Order: sequence, then C-alpha cells, then structure tokens
Amino acid sequence: YKRITTKSLIEMKSNGEKISMLTAYDYTMAKIVDTAGVDVILVGDSASNVMAGHETTLPITLDQMIYHASSVVRAVERGLVVVDLPFGSYQSDPKEALRSAIRIMKESGGHAVKLEGGKEIKESIKKILNAGIPVMGHLGLTPQSIYKFGTYSVRAKEEEEAEKLIEDAKMLEKVGCFAVVLEKIPADLAEKVAKSISIPVIGIGAGGGVDGQVLVIHDMLGMNNEFSPRFLRRYLNLYELMTKAIGQYAADVKSSDFPNAGEQY
Ligand code: KIV
Ligand code: NA
Repeated sequence: YKRITTKSLIEMKSNGEKISMLTAYDYTMAKIVDTAGVDVILVGDSASNVMAGHETTLPITLDQMIYHASSVVRAVERGLVVVDLPFGSYQSDPKEALRSAIRIMKESGGHAVKLEGGKEIKESIKKILNAGIPVMGHLGLTPQSIYKFGTYSVRAKEEEEAEKLIEDAKMLEKVGCFAVVLEKIPADLAEKVAKSISIPVIGIGAGGGVDGQVLVIHDMLGMNNEFSPRFLRRYLNLYELMTKAIGQYAADVKSSDFPNAGEQY
C-alpha cells in the first residue's frame, strides 16, 4: 500500500476525491478497517462510550487513549491514524497540551492528534504544531463540552454560533491544521465551511457537501440498538447477527452438540 499522509488528504480535497474515516480502538478491528481501504482511522475518545460503557467521553484518560491507539497502530499499514486528546489532557494550558500530544506520539506511534475547540485552544494547537505534530480540529457538537451544551442536539443553528464556527474553521486552517471534523451542524453551514477553506472538512451529521465522512464503527456496523441519530447509516445489524451466533453456541454447548467428533483431538 501507499501510506496515507496528511499531505495525501489535502491532495484528495483538491482533486475532489472524498475522504473516508472510521473509528477503531483495538488491533483486530483496526486491521479490518485498514484492509477495507478506509483512509483515516480515528482512535476516538468515543472509546469511553463504546468500549468502556461510560455515558460521556469525559472519563477516558490519556493512558487509556494511548493503550487503544498503540493497539490500532500495530494493525494499520495504510491508513492515517489520528488519536483524540481526551478531556482534561489539553485544556489547562498549551504546555500541558503539548506534553499530552507528545505522549500520544511517542507512546502509541499514532500519526496525528485531534482536539475539540476553536479559538479557546488556539495557542495549544500552535504549540503542538510547532513540535511537528499534525493536528486535526473538531468543531460543532464537541462531546467533551456536553455539560455546557446540555443536549446532543444539532449545533450552530443560530447566526451567532454559525459565525463563530466559520471563524474558528478559518483559524484552524490558518494556524496549520491538516483537516477539521464538523459534527452535527446544518448541512448548508458545513458546505459553506468546506468551500471557504483549503484543508479537508470531514463531517459527521454534517451533510454531503463536505470533503469526507466519519462514523463510529460500532454504530455503522449496528452493534448497538439504542443509538439511532438521523445521520447514522447502518451497514450491518451486527447486534442481531452476533446475538444469534452466540446464542447458538451457548445452546450447542448445553446440548453437547459442540464439540463434535471432528472438533477434538
Ligand atoms: O471520538 C470520536 O469518535 C469522534 C468522531 C465521532 C469524530 O471524535
Ligand atoms: Na472524539
């Protein structure tokens, strides 16, 4: 494979080629995602929800993110591995942000980091970029701020928040971020942002007028039944398939059907 780099993503945007991105948190899943040809593999702090069962992304630690990221890095041969800086690892000051980003790069072998926020974290982003670490931005519904928002509903529907989001996106481009995620905002606004900056805009619940798409892998594979936002397309019903298969295994053990004569030594 030719490895995907931050440069290849910017080239894809200028060539009009859409960018595919999915999350992964472990070796086995990352191997499948990479082999299937997904361009960007995000070790998201959504691991806090889907791997650990927390209600929000806030509890996951930097050490836990590094564990997930190093497992993913060992599997990936082609994709660009982006790792979320978790809540509490970058908000205090730019030095803390840089220290956290360096730990991720050194201890996991990831290729880039992602941080949530705009001008509030501008100095932190600049400091990380100055150290030679590529940064992906994340604006719109930023789940680490869920207790400020109060709900997971669509962001930037009002003029004021939309204006700030456009300014933040332009700032992220200007300081040198290689891409930006826009989460759960109106499609028109997302398209406007994508057209006004030269770095790729990757959307989740942000419509088709952007440069690429990202989903949480457990959601798109249908591994959970509870989470059904409008933006989610389910490509499998893995919850049902796995429950049936595992139920069959349990029944086969009970009935002594498994193992049979050919399945033993
Ligand atoms: O943590 C995550 O999975 C993310 C994506 C939804 C963009 O940040
Ligand atoms: Na995230």
